[in-house]
Amino acid sequence: MQFQLTEEHLMIQKAARDFAQNECLPGVIERDEHQKFPREQILKLAELGFMGMMVSPDYGGAGMDTISYVLAMEEVSKIDASVSVAMSVNNSLVCWGLEKFGSEEQKQKYLVPLAQGRKNGELHIGAFLLSEPEAGSDATSQRTYAEDKGDHYILNGTKNWITNGSSASTYLVMAQSDIAKGSKGINAFIVEKSWPGVAVGAKENKLGIRGSDTHTITFTDVKVPKENRLGGDGFGFTFAMKTLAGGRIGIASQALGIASGAYELALKYSKERKAFGKEIMHHQAIQFKLADMATRIECARLLCLKSAWEKDQHLDYTLSSSMAKVFASETAMWVATEAVQVHGGYGFVKEYHVERLMRDAKITQIYEGTSEVQRIVISRSILK
Ligand code: CAA
Repeated sequence: MQFQLTEEHLMIQKAARDFAQNECLPGVIERDEHQKFPREQILKLAELGFMGMMVSPDYGGAGMDTISYVLAMEEVSKIDASVSVAMSVNNSLVCWGLEKFGSEEQKQKYLVPLAQGRKNGELHIGAFLLSEPEAGSDATSQRTYAEDKGDHYILNGTKNWITNGSSASTYLVMAQSDIAKGSKGINAFIVEKSWPGVAVGAKENKLGIRGSDTHTITFTDVKVPKENRLGGDGFGFTFAMKTLAGGRIGIASQALGIASGAYELALKYSKERKAFGKEIMHHQAIQFKLADMATRIECARLLCLKSAWEKDQHLDYTLSSSMAKVFASETAMWVATEAVQVHGGYGFVKEYHVERLMRDAKITQIYEGTSEVQRIVISRSILK
């Protein structure tokens, strides 16, 4: 068993850390306050090859492994989870789904620019459209309908909570085509945002990841060519579940980054702040908090890396990615709350960053499958 990172992993980790410090930290408080989408930061991330990290260079990607992705996600998420959620969705839901299940034509047309994160110098990213007003955790209850018309489908319905909703140019859309077949009647399609009948609703005003552009997307009689269906007829739900298993490694790593970012701030503050005649790090009440934070973060990190390793070894990582996601997201929420506590009143104001990390942590327990959904996946796996 090898617990050491390679030279290459360390280089990627450093590149992500430098990027987060130099490009994401400046203006992060203002972007959060004004819900400003971090377009410039994501474009620069694309220049580093971090928007298609695991995609083969044959399709415009950086050809890195999933361990590198976890390391980069952690570093970016320490500073700005609004940047890292766009990175995660594009890498592990959109690009991975297309590379794994797309046809050669679909890969050439859609994956190549998405893996580069740019097209003609402009941002070019994707979004994953599964959630609906009444199909969140209960993802088989899709109401969006894609009617088979022979050489094309007609798509109608509404998707919500869509990350990259307005900034993406390509959507991967799950829709029901045969209600009688239940989950086996669901298809997945590549839909271009510019097509007639696609409408982007207002940006959601959120508690956390406020820079991220979360929207409702509506489809009205959208004509989708049959060659834009991913996989065979009825493959859509399996496509979504398999893709989400990898997505959960990304969000687990995001949660890990939020936790370690909050912990590093608490550690630094505890060395500077004096109370009762000494730096607060000398008080056991603070030492025990820091010890618990560091321990839980290390457990979360090991779970993320183990799941990434399983994925790289082509093993089944459905169980480990759900374990990583549920543990890392609960760690993020707990550590960020404790980090605010270590900061006392200063933790409650924006300049000290920990209140934002605490708000950002919450979504990691909700998206790409709530903590409850992860427990469903874990318990089914261990009981079967
Ligand atoms: N791989 C392959 N097939 C799978 C699978 C997997 N991981 N999981 C389920 N399936 C198959 C099942 O085998 C089953 O097929 P059979 O009928 O042949 O047995 C079929 O799919 C239906 O599965 P279930 O009966 O298990 O379905 P369920 O209704 O009980 O739901 C669930 C299971 C795990 C709760 C699932 O609905 C789920 O994961 N829900 C959460 C959805 C989610 O994560 N949404 C996130 C939205 S995306 C997002 O947030 C991105 C973003 O913007 C940040």
